[in-house]
Amino acid sequence: MSAPAPPRLSIDADRLVGRIQDLGRIGRGDDGKLTRLAASEADKAGRDQFVAWLRAAGLDVRCDRVGNLFGVWREPENADGAAILVGSHIDSVIDAGIYDGCYGVLAGLEAIETLRASGFKPTRPVAVAAFTNEEGVRFAPDMLGSLTYVGGLAVEDGLTATATDGAALGAELERIGYAGSEAPGFLRPCAYVELHIEQGPVLDREGLAIGAVEGVQGISWRRVTIEGVANHAGTTPMTMRRDAGLAAARVIAHLRDHVAGSNAPSVATVGSIAFEPNAINVIPSRARLTVDLRDPDERRLQEMEAALDGFLEKLAAAEGVSIAVERLARFAPVAFDSNIVELIEGAAERRGLTSKRMTSGAGHDAQMLARICPTAMIFVPSVGGISHNPKEFTLAAHLVAGANVLLDVVTRLAG
Ligand code: GLV
Ligand code: MN
Ligand code: MN
Repeated sequence: MSAPAPPRLSIDADRLVGRIQDLGRIGRGDDGKLTRLAASEADKAGRDQFVAWLRAAGLDVRCDRVGNLFGVWREPENADGAAILVGSHIDSVIDAGIYDGCYGVLAGLEAIETLRASGFKPTRPVAVAAFTNEEGVRFAPDMLGSLTYVGGLAVEDGLTATATDGAALGAELERIGYAGSEAPGFLRPCAYVELHIEQGPVLDREGLAIGAVEGVQGISWRRVTIEGVANHAGTTPMTMRRDAGLAAARVIAHLRDHVAGSNAPSVATVGSIAFEPNAINVIPSRARLTVDLRDPDERRLQEMEAALDGFLEKLAAAEGVSIAVERLARFAPVAFDSNIVELIEGAAERRGLTSKRMTSGAGHDAQMLARICPTAMIFVPSVGGISHNPKEFTLAAHLVAGANVLLDVVTRLAG
């Protein structure tokens, strides 16, 4: 008879779910809306809590110059090796839920604590990261911390990134005490695995537990500024207006029509708009809006960008306005490492969990880490596919299942 299989290691479910709830209270109002923008006071409080947990777990806490935070587990016999890195981000959008990013960071910590407590001897360091400004709501580009970490953005350019409120990232990190001294990239990873809620409807709708994520779609962010002429709302005939507000509305409608007219999975969003002078009886002289275009196919993404450029040119002539476009972020689609994707599938199967391969619709730090080391992601279901919304929710059983798959993958990679 063969020897019985050793008992499978599992993360501490109550500790993980409790920490997600605890971190989720930081920056959340009585209305349940969480706003913990990068390098804000709330971000400082969230970071302080995360660092306290890292210290309590006995990890070596490091912070780099753009505020990326790390908890490193090194043993004397493996100290020089490249690290297995896990993590995500703890900054949030405006009026967020509590799972986006935080789940991957806290599950990463949980996997490390579980392995340490079990007596597991990793052949290389294992570290958990919380990257700065993943969301990109306060500072552009999104994923600024991980982009800088992999050398895709110069540190000085990261530190001088200007917030929507005018502050510079470097000064804000100094202010909140998280302008670290490490050079971004100081910790050399040999693999990166990010666990995240799906933030879309696929796993929930199909009743599956785990997504083995093969890649991330491309992202294009622009700011469009339309200059018209302010004039009196009551006296200016409709044919004599140079209305920046109307032109902005036409941009939104164009994007919708363009995407709806194709069978592709392209998506387009105007999520932010501001008029000047913004008064009921004044034709807007200026409109500033953001455009978020995404597509898993780089060629189609380029076509969407070109179609928008062509539309804006015609719009300016037709409405008598001038239009300036600023590029805020541009990331091509990314393919993840097939070996790690297979490890994720295998780990799910061994735990009796259903899974499917999928592409991420959301942007993630993993798409940056993929530039420097084998990388993949694990998704768990988001109830109703709701995210970037206080109603974002994932069942505790799914959170725990995903964290156990992460634990198994880290065990394989570090063993
Ligand atoms: C981040 O959540 C993004 O995909 O915009
Ligand atoms: Mn996220
Ligand atoms: Mn997000």
